[in-house]
Amino acid sequence: MCGIVGYTGTRQAVDVLLDSLKKLEYRGYDSAGVAIVDQSIQLHKDKGVIANMESTLPRFTGGVGVAHTRWATCGRPSKENAHPFIDCSGNLALVHNGIIENYMELKRQLIAEGHKFTSDTDTEILVHLIERHYTGDALEALNQALKEVKGTYALVLVQKGSDHIYAARRENPLVIGLGVGENFIASDVTALLDYTNKVIYVMDGEVVDLSPSKVTIYDSNGSVVNRKPEVITWSAEDAQKGGFEHFMLKEIFEVPSAIHNTLLGNLDGVEDGTFLTNVDFNSVKIVACGTSHHAAMVGRYLIERLAKLPVSAELASEYRYGEKAKECPLVILITQSGETADTLAAAREAKRRGCRTLAITNVVGSTITREVDEVFYTRAGPEIGVAATKTFIAQLIALYLIAMRLGYAKKSMSHDSLRTMRNEMMSLPQVVRRVLDNADQVEQATDMLVSARDVFFLGRNINYPVMLEGALKLKEISYIHAEGYAAGEMKHGPLALIDASTPIVATVVRDQTYEKMLSNISEVQAREGLVLAIGGEGDAELEQVAHKVLYVPGVPALYSPVPISVLLQLLAYYTAKRKGCSIDKPKNLAKSVTVD
Ligand code: M6R
Repeated sequence: MCGIVGYTGTRQAVDVLLDSLKKLEYRGYDSAGVAIVDQSIQLHKDKGVIANMESTLPRFTGGVGVAHTRWATCGRPSKENAHPFIDCSGNLALVHNGIIENYMELKRQLIAEGHKFTSDTDTEILVHLIERHYTGDALEALNQALKEVKGTYALVLVQKGSDHIYAARRENPLVIGLGVGENFIASDVTALLDYTNKVIYVMDGEVVDLSPSKVTIYDSNGSVVNRKPEVITWSAEDAQKGGFEHFMLKEIFEVPSAIHNTLLGNLDGVEDGTFLTNVDFNSVKIVACGTSHHAAMVGRYLIERLAKLPVSAELASEYRYGEKAKECPLVILITQSGETADTLAAAREAKRRGCRTLAITNVVGSTITREVDEVFYTRAGPEIGVAATKTFIAQLIALYLIAMRLGYAKKSMSHDSLRTMRNEMMSLPQVVRRVLDNADQVEQATDMLVSARDVFFLGRNINYPVMLEGALKLKEISYIHAEGYAAGEMKHGPLALIDASTPIVATVVRDQTYEKMLSNISEVQAREGLVLAIGGEGDAELEQVAHKVLYVPGVPALYSPVPISVLLQLLAYYTAKRKGCSIDKPKNLAKSVTVD
């Protein structure tokens, strides 16, 4: 995700900022920039890696500045869209992480007032909005501007001729680093550790005023906050993982914000038709690989149910062997990286067959975005662990929204049911937080799996692909052989493999599959198989039939793939951890599979 650093002190700010910014490279980015304050604001930015930007950087002097690495969300990766942004008068420069939801409306107003824009970003409106209120006091102008902004932010502002830095936070992290005669601010403590280990975390709604000798924090009412500094004892590598032992675990804990950001950027489009404006097709094909293919299979159930359209989910590596159908479906290609060779080949084949194409991807500007007619961005932030976790959940959220959009546009969903679903979707981050709160129980349940040679994952209906994904996650990082099965298929063969040494993970939700899942569990029990059941909170009946039960918050069955998938990701993670596996970089696997 984007990275921010700010500095005010007696050193050359440019040296401190570049050095600190490089500590944030692990987060992934596509452009970088720096603004140094002197009698004027000196600005330099470029597309690509920091070294790119640095190689053409003039020798800026001054003790105050901000720098940024951008991971594109609004506007493609380019020099123009890189931060910092400067206002029309050249008095102010600003960097930002987050999403400004009402930027289109604000941009229209600002253009009408004469402001000139140089980028496609939502961020640029912030600096112009502050300029609108600026009469010499940047802090006052910032406070006024923030009242008009809807969305999320961590932002840092500098002002010509001043050694003060101003910052504000809403739902995006910011941390102050305390020095002697100098102070720092960053989006991530990793950026600061070479200079100081004394930090103060900025809380939501707070605004900060930093000078070389003083730090003042204001709460949302404008009252001064006194917060004690903390001393960080982590190494830089630990800090990159935010205190988590592995990126995978950190990324699982980022699922609530991945859901929130994916909804924030796209929920309104369901009704407004800002995506899939024209729905002149009568069937849908969803094409992807690996984990993304499992998302595709969940998507099939969602679109069939909400939009009443025929849907098929296909492996991208097999798509090329099919024939052109009489009628062209909408082809949805799912790839978190946007670079998977098989999925790119499928996109080209779909175009060759004359189909309309839509890609769901997490990476702005990735190759798939140039191959398709329309792009739907998940906003999960960069994923470093090879195992897809938060990006999978963000893909599910994208598919719920696409299914809702199609349901509404094809008139199989009423306005009221759409409103109800919107509210239910908005509660999902909180549902996942409750799963994460019980991570220690999931860890304990790994007793049942850690010594197994084979594990079966069983589910039905919309949770069948969820269990395929649970099995893939386990085999990928723990090297235990795992198979996902539609529970009804067990008696057609695999039951022969069940005995006391083969654990079964079965998901049992309260929908039309409930009784049948209980029967499938009994069939396993009768062969002495050990059953770890996953069910909805309060379902005491499960304790009668399973050896162990893990509970997820009770949600309508349609949403159950979200909490259950997160629980299965934790289960795979803790099993692999107990086996001492290389979790973030499993053997033989790569994050982006660019060969077909
Ligand atoms: O980037 P993509 O979503 O196209 O990647 C597809 C698969 O390679 C990927 O999902 C793979 O299965 C993951 N490592 C699973 O965790």
